[in-house]
Amino acid sequence: MIRINENYTKLKASYLFADIAKRVNAYVAAHPQLPIIRLGIGDVTEPLPPVCLAALHAATDEMAHRATFKGYGPEQGYAFLREAVAQHDFKAHGAPIEADEIFISDGSKCDVANIQEIFAADTRLAIPDPVYPVYVDTNVMAGRTGANQDGRYAGITYLESTAANGYVPAPPAVSPSNPPAVSPSNPPAVSPSNPPAVAAELIYLCFPNNPTGAVATRAQLAAWVAYAKQHHAVILFDAAYESYIRTPGIPRSIYEIEGARDVAIEFRSYSKLAGFTGLRCAYTVVPKSLKARDADGNEHAIHALWNRRHTTKFNGVSYPVQKAAAAVYTAEGQAQTRALTDFYLGNAKLIREAVQQLGMSCIGGDNAPYIWVNTGRDSWEFFDLLLHKAQVVCTPGAGFGRCGEGHVRISAFNSRENVTTALTRIAAALR
Ligand SMILES: Cc1ncc(COP(=O)(O)O)c(C=O)c1O
Repeated sequence: MIRINENYTKLKASYLFADIAKRVNAYVAAHPQLPIIRLGIGDVTEPLPPVCLAALHAATDEMAHRATFKGYGPEQGYAFLREAVAQHDFKAHGAPIEADEIFISDGSKCDVANIQEIFAADTRLAIPDPVYPVYVDTNVMAGRTGANQDGRYAGITYLESTAANGYVPAPPAVSPSNPPAVSPSNPPAVSPSNPPAVAAELIYLCFPNNPTGAVATRAQLAAWVAYAKQHHAVILFDAAYESYIRTPGIPRSIYEIEGARDVAIEFRSYSKLAGFTGLRCAYTVVPKSLKARDADGNEHAIHALWNRRHTTKFNGVSYPVQKAAAAVYTAEGQAQTRALTDFYLGNAKLIREAVQQLGMSCIGGDNAPYIWVNTGRDSWEFFDLLLHKAQVVCTPGAGFGRCGEGHVRISAFNSRENVTTALTRIAAALR
């Protein structure tokens, strides 16, 4: 009989949001009269900006006439969008990125999941904890880890984000005294208390962070770029929440750091910027100066590899959706997306203030749509308490990794009315 990819059996049995749904559904079935407010999953609630909607309609109408109909487009995306991205998202911020280094896609989830394919099977990984689970799970599927023990996979260097480091991990120390793993198929899990003997080669960073909402300063990102240069590593920089940055001086792109072009790939998405979670559009930046070696030591441009992968496995984002994304870069689009993200940040501010008034510490919410609450107790226990006493759904931090224990993530993606009602109920439940 045909055999399965057994790496899949190493994955944790259930998905965090499926566990949450099970508990919420059981509660709703038992208490149908009590309306639930969901501040858990990070999906947007507000409709598309009008300028995007108008562009979507106009482009759809073009598809109705032979003269303007579009079939397959360029796999990497239409020039009108790639050029707008390079100009507005990078050059305007002093980041030297060209249009042909942009790959338009149907979502950052697929891109951050697929990128690992172009690196060697024994690539050494550094992944944050807590984390957006896709980074870990896709490497497990690809066979880059050992088994899961106590919530951690052997072979991953975990970048611990805790209150002690302000939830922004520094590059890990490399300990020459820590002997290399005896068995490559079952290497030890490494953490700051058990530093790796050799440096990480593929480093996942996400700022503003999901789930913590933390942002990295220029100096913190510069330290990562320096580490990657020193160790010939590649940084995968997930900037899906870039449009929520408000604090002046916080870099919006890793390419604002000098030298990052030679060591980093960046991911951006229209999902949280312009409400495209259902429409689907994102992009990945692969600078042409980014290189990696083959087993014989010959250098290869990562751009060429990703271009090969993208054109082989992807046929492009639909024309109307790319037109809707390009509308973000018009003056109206800039104003409307700013208003949209300001609205969610207004919710986030209310959540932050309410949490602090209840005597709990938290981070996030000022440059991100997530508030990471240090609850001081078991995260599932706190989740149950909010569900049962306030009928509010949050996300238990333990679901994002070991360092998430003791925390919950509260999302600002909801209507103002739902957020204020939820906060009133939470205050009553905790007093
Ligand atoms: C950190 C992070 N990266 C990527 C994504 C995926 O975005 P997209 O909707 O573009 O697939 C999300 C979505 O929640 C996210 O939180």
